[in-house]
Amino acid sequence: MSVMLPEKMKAVVLTEPTKAEEVRLTDCPVPQVRPEDTLLVRGATCALGYAAIQLAKALGCRVIATAHKESRLPLLAEADEAVLDTGRLAETLPGAAFPGTVRPRATSPGVTRSRITKALELVGPKTLPDTLRCVEKGGIVCNTGILGGVYALSGFDPIKDIPNGVYLTGFYSNGPTQEIMDEIFSFLTAHRLQPCVGKCFDFSEIREACEAQDTGAVNGKIVVHISRISDHG
Ligand SMILES: NC(=O)c1ccc[n+]([C@@H]2O[C@H](COP(=O)([O-])OP(=O)(O)OC[C@H]3O[C@@H](n4cnc5c(N)ncnc54)[C@H](OP(=O)(O)O)[C@@H]3O)[C@@H](O)[C@H]2O)c1
Repeated sequence: MSVMLPEKMKAVVLTEPTKAEEVRLTDCPVPQVRPEDTLLVRGATCALGYAAIQLAKALGCRVIATAHKESRLPLLAEADEAVLDTGRLAETLPGAAFPGTVRPRATSPGVTRSRITKALELVGPKTLPDTLRCVEKGGIVCNTGILGGVYALSGFDPIKDIPNGVYLTGFYSNGPTQEIMDEIFSFLTAHRLQPCVGKCFDFSEIREACEAQDTGAVNGKIVVHISRISDHG
């Protein structure tokens, strides 16, 4: 959930980013996503997932996004491909790098599929070993979420569970700098991206906001306006 300060957000200078700024943006969040990448967003039906799809598409990447419920697949329309997560993507996902076979897309026989070069793991340790097997050699997997409800890797053998030549990293968003926030807002502005805001609440409705988050009733980011605190005492 985001607590937004609208008056501060309006103060962000809305200028086009320079090429150097755009390159820095692609450098700063792991896993160093580049326009030529095919990015797998695993567990994409969450606020972070929707944002990742938008940002990666704006960069020019090909994006494969997964949902753990079939009914949620239409929410991933912005991705190039929306895939139901069976928990065993390395075996079933066309384009997954391991065990080494690239199966042609069922709907387009003969189409050469791009291999997955980067992966944003939002389900977390529950599916991480499988995700590591989805990216090609030289690819990067960034473990960022814990949607799967498993918080640590148990019995993880780095030698066997990280395929040769695949890189594993993590991301922890606490403590963003003003510089990084400015770069992100410049990028959003330049690419005319509208954050996927699911629902806005006044601060007086914080209880309803928390309930909405707990029940997963809202698709997109839940925003609480703290500037309206004074309006409600
Ligand atoms: N590393 C960091 O610094 C950092 C920062 C922010 C957030 N996170 C993590 O990133 C993840 C996403 O955060 P968020 O704020 O974007 O979450 P969110 O918007 O609150 O999304 C929660 C929703 O994710 C959906 N979901 C998708 N795949 C799922 C799965 N495999 N298992 C369970 N639920 C799944 C569920 O909806 P449906 O069941 O309807 O699909 C659930 O309601 C969380 O795990 C959060 O802890 C990490």
